[in-house]
Amino acid sequence: MAVERRKKVEDLRSARWFAPDDLRSFGHRSRLMQLGYSEADFMGKPVIGILNTWSELNACHSHFPERVEAVKRGVLAAGGFPVELPTLSVDESFTKPTSMLYRNMLAMEAEETIRSHPLDGVVLMGGCDKTTPGLVMGGLTAGVPMIYLPAGPMLRGNYAGKALGSGSDAWKYWDERRAGNVSDEQWQGLQGGIARSAGVCMTMGTASTMTAIVDAMGLTLPGASSIPAVDSGHQRMATDCGRRIVDMVWEDLTPDRVATSAAFRNAAIVAMATGCSTNAVVHLIAMARRAGVDLTLDDLDALGRDTPLLANVRPSGKDYLMEDFYFAGGLRALMLQIGERLDLTCMTVNGRTLGDNLEGAVVYNDDVIRPLSNPVYHEGSLAVLRGNLCPDGAVIKPAACDPKYYRHQGPALVFDSYPEMKKAIDDENLDVTPDHVLVLRNAGPLGGPGMPEWGMLPIPKALIKQGYRDMLRISDARMSGTSYGACVLHVAPESYVGGPLALLRNGDIVRLDLDNRRLDMLVAEDEIARRKTEWTPPPPRFERGWGWMYSKHVTQADKGCDFDFLERGFGAAAGEPDI
Ligand code: FES
Ligand code: MG
Repeated sequence: MAVERRKKVEDLRSARWFAPDDLRSFGHRSRLMQLGYSEADFMGKPVIGILNTWSELNACHSHFPERVEAVKRGVLAAGGFPVELPTLSVDESFTKPTSMLYRNMLAMEAEETIRSHPLDGVVLMGGCDKTTPGLVMGGLTAGVPMIYLPAGPMLRGNYAGKALGSGSDAWKYWDERRAGNVSDEQWQGLQGGIARSAGVCMTMGTASTMTAIVDAMGLTLPGASSIPAVDSGHQRMATDCGRRIVDMVWEDLTPDRVATSAAFRNAAIVAMATGCSTNAVVHLIAMARRAGVDLTLDDLDALGRDTPLLANVRPSGKDYLMEDFYFAGGLRALMLQIGERLDLTCMTVNGRTLGDNLEGAVVYNDDVIRPLSNPVYHEGSLAVLRGNLCPDGAVIKPAACDPKYYRHQGPALVFDSYPEMKKAIDDENLDVTPDHVLVLRNAGPLGGPGMPEWGMLPIPKALIKQGYRDMLRISDARMSGTSYGACVLHVAPESYVGGPLALLRNGDIVRLDLDNRRLDMLVAEDEIARRKTEWTPPPPRFERGWGWMYSKHVTQADKGCDFDFLERGFGAAAGEPDI
């Protein structure tokens, strides 16, 4: 496709660093020469930053060093000058207390790295849960042309001839182990077989949900999010990203022309149809607010009500994993199925519309990617609740829980901290029935801190041994996108700031009514008011450093947990450096 040049060499952002005949530019040029480049390598060329979230503690991104080389090859072939810039890795597997505490740090780092350097365009390399929203939030605010390069899912897990799904099967077999049904040897085998290659979790967890969202929004090359990490097609996609970003610079195809209100709506519909992680709610809202797009919990609930779940991929779907999804046609095939609900005129990073990009998409297996006439679940994967326990909202994933909990009423069993909960859950004599509602509080954005993925509270050992595997659970935490069960999450406002969850007591009756999207405690209003006057705030979690800054500025779950001062509209946009 011919490149429509909107920019001349002298308009390049990097020209401000390299072109003038002055002392500063002399310094910039001489420093690139120190790195071994000649002027012919970089003068008058789009400088492409490759923001790489690789680290030796990010197992999902272990193929990134090789992919960086592929991107560079593409950039060079298209006449650009590639530079790799490391950014915070925010690995999901090792970061304590939770990677979510650092999503905004990555977003800030990405934004400031782009702004402060001579970059004309960027390729953002991420995939492990928080890296996608973190990089995209930063990239949207920085505003230079960008392409997102998703890490891609790892290969299917396997043990003893059976496919294993990231996260989901770990929880499942852990419950069986707690019930005494899994030997040490089997446990070792599961440990070695559940993560078999580079790439992100290969269930439709947070990682694959978020990359699908960014793909649907038009910020990746079409269908890029579905390609398995170690497939040679992934490498070719990386080279294509490099080639394409150079043209995007000349075309001045900035992210505000792609990440529009209609694109966010498309992304939310696609998220619902994929059986998305509950985490997507928080990240979608945060990204939208960066883009200046008005997207609320209620919008997401409305889209969820009439978008059927079509991707039969675990944990919301029954049978398949991301590799199957790719071979069944991938995200483009899924978008084809719901094409009539999408705005196909949206522009995407390849310079074509979403509709153009769906041409030629094919569903190769309609059990994996279902038609509208045979969905996995008749509604979308998420529902938003309100009520006297969650006036600002809470989220549940009905497709991933036992339908008998859609209407449920039972006594609360309340825990104030994760260690307290863990101790009780492991007590075989705990006084608990399957009707009880397990509640964990002080696990929200400020209370957790960082809103950890504690929301899938373990089923008490006493009930596990009796064969129970699901219960109604409520918290102000998040849960892993690979989790499942009747878990109400993201209760807002959180208990740590005095939200009504803080006022709930053991034995109070809690009622969930999914049809009417209600979550309430059946406690008289004057009693709730009385308890509120008795409530005292817990001590601060942090007295210094990042955590202190985080606690001063993080917003509640219904607002996306961004920092208030980073959202669009907080103040004037940062100007370009003029020195
Ligand atoms: Fe990286 Fe799941 S741990 S995506
Ligand atoms: Mg996860």
